[in-house]
Amino acid sequence: MRTPIIVGNWKLNNTINEAITLVKSLRSLVVDIADVEIVVAPVFTALSAVAQALADANIQLAAQDVFWEDSGAFTGEISPGMLKDVGCNYVIIGHSERRQYFGETDEEVNRKVKAAHTHELIPIICVGESLAERETDKTDAVIKDHVLNGIAGVSADQIPSTVIAYEPVWAIGTGRNATPDQAQEVHALIRSVLSDIYSADVATQVRIQYGGSVKPDNAAALIMQPDVDGALVGTASWEAESFAQIATAVHNTYSTDKT
Ligand code: PGA
Repeated sequence: MRTPIIVGNWKLNNTINEAITLVKSLRSLVVDIADVEIVVAPVFTALSAVAQALADANIQLAAQDVFWEDSGAFTGEISPGMLKDVGCNYVIIGHSERRQYFGETDEEVNRKVKAAHTHELIPIICVGESLAERETDKTDAVIKDHVLNGIAGVSADQIPSTVIAYEPVWAIGTGRNATPDQAQEVHALIRSVLSDIYSADVATQVRIQYGGSVKPDNAAALIMQPDVDGALVGTASWEAESFAQIATAVHNTYSTDKT
């Protein structure tokens, strides 16, 4: 059984004080949830303070991006070792906002993924089609490209410590989530791509999250799907209550219906 994982992507929000307030209230709301991995991804400037506020908590830390070099003349970048140093276990890579607004390519995503693994940071690789691509039946081709290019060169030993987040671009921040069936269909495709490259056994170990307008009232139905192993949550993670409700919904689904 894969351990479910939910990640709160805070995006470009929160000063240090705001981040501490948010994570302290989240901490108290999810204190009893032991069987779901809960992760928050603040901006770089708040990572250190949030790491301290999370000491001994059942919440882990992610960064929203990383660069692939260890050090050197790369003004403005942050290395995987620096993220480990500040207390991150996870890093989100290739979010559609980075691909769309910052021109991030599959090749760059792949370099970041490999660099993360080198430093034992778990990459959360985001893949997903645009609305135009879905409407012209290109979803499968786009997803396969994103997955194959993103994990190129990742070994069978490393792939179980890799998270893939299926995030249809048309569902991000729109209030229009993929239906559970739509999500399951793409998640099954991703797992079959992994099975072809590695093996069925390895593919069953990889966690595949759904992201895109996940809310407390739709989380359980999405999580019930056999290949949906968690959620990458944007807007609903910006308030402790709604993110905690999603964590609780995931916990309840796993402890009752999804075995
Ligand atoms: P959303 O964002 O939950 O606001 O749709 C998801 C994401 O961007 O990861």
